[in-house]
Amino acid sequence: MSDKESLCLEGGQGILVSEGTVQNISQSEELLHEYGKDEDSNLRVYDCKGKAIIPGFVDCHTHLVWGGDRANEMQLRHSGLTYTDIAERGGGIQKTVDFTRSMPSSRLVQLGEKRIARALKFGSTTIECKSGYGLSVDSELKLLEINQSLGQNTPMDIHSTWLGAHDVPKDLNIEDYVDNLISEQLPAVIEQGYAHYADVFCEPGWFSLEQTEEIVKAAEKHGLPSRLHVDEFVDGNGLQLASDLGVISGDHVGHSSDDARHSASNSGTMQTFLPGTPYILGHDLDSPLRKCIENNWQFSLATDFNPNCRSLSMPFVGSLATHRLGLSPLEALVAVTRNPASTLAKSTQGAIPGSIREGGPADFLILDSEHIDAWCQMPGDNPVHQTVKAGILLSYNQ
Ligand code: NIG
Ligand code: FE
Repeated sequence: MSDKESLCLEGGQGILVSEGTVQNISQSEELLHEYGKDEDSNLRVYDCKGKAIIPGFVDCHTHLVWGGDRANEMQLRHSGLTYTDIAERGGGIQKTVDFTRSMPSSRLVQLGEKRIARALKFGSTTIECKSGYGLSVDSELKLLEINQSLGQNTPMDIHSTWLGAHDVPKDLNIEDYVDNLISEQLPAVIEQGYAHYADVFCEPGWFSLEQTEEIVKAAEKHGLPSRLHVDEFVDGNGLQLASDLGVISGDHVGHSSDDARHSASNSGTMQTFLPGTPYILGHDLDSPLRKCIENNWQFSLATDFNPNCRSLSMPFVGSLATHRLGLSPLEALVAVTRNPASTLAKSTQGAIPGSIREGGPADFLILDSEHIDAWCQMPGDNPVHQTVKAGILLSYNQ
């Protein structure tokens, strides 16, 4: 099946859905004629009246649950401080850790629910959510438990990642914290059973290549595969390590070398670009997406929603990829649907999302246009007219 056939429908096509699954894709008129009359049936026809339909977005890199507010950091950056300078002065991740630890779970759940409603409204129907703003056994377990409950109590499919190695808590040195991660946090996370993946912020100034390797190997021994933050600010050989270790995905990858990209492609490690982060930090977007297409290197795109980059809009990421980074709308669509879905296969129950096909999950978006290319061409606005999740029309949109 070509990309176009599996990733978009236009020209008056419709979808027949039953019990959360796509049963048939055909011209709307034919489906309505055959199935549209029986009101008692559990079959439902989505007649899109000439609007284009695309799969629900799969946002495979978010930091969804945290408390507090770091909006002041933009002014600090404008005064000349870098992300690292701000972190060294008590801002950044540590500041969010303090806020998050002091917040009751009920308030964090409320924040998570509001954010999920926004993500669904902007068309994400599956998201990966990291912990990482706890940095102690109890508070990391609390965040993973919240991810789990959000997956159960909202329509969103949530894939949870343990990111204890996001930063070092103030009361420990990094060597002791790595020991703590491996000997205490990881076993507790495994016993709790909610995390599907492990992650490490592998970057000079945070966790080294050696420490990252140690954590990835320990997680793997417990059956937890990894997805890693690498090469965000400099080329620290992180993507090369990710590829040598055969991890699922290397994320950020703005400064990775071509050799590392080539290795990642050979080892099946997805490159996940997060262009929203350099955008808000005021950096070059550092995402050689055309080069990836030319070399046939697989890549995904995601939001990296976090206290610094507060957008859960995949259409905004699509706008950066197409208006600024040279992708076609269809190339960008593959990177926000089918490719990221493939990185979540291990934690997907039932059929893999990311495309519209008979027998696949009925997670799709009806756009406010007859052209699929509209999906990424409304920055600051929402091209999603209706979000359908597991066959149910959600009422977040107009
Ligand atoms: O992926 N770079 C590491 N972690 C997040 C940012 C975390 C924060 O600034 O709170 C990221 O961009
Ligand atoms: Fe991140």
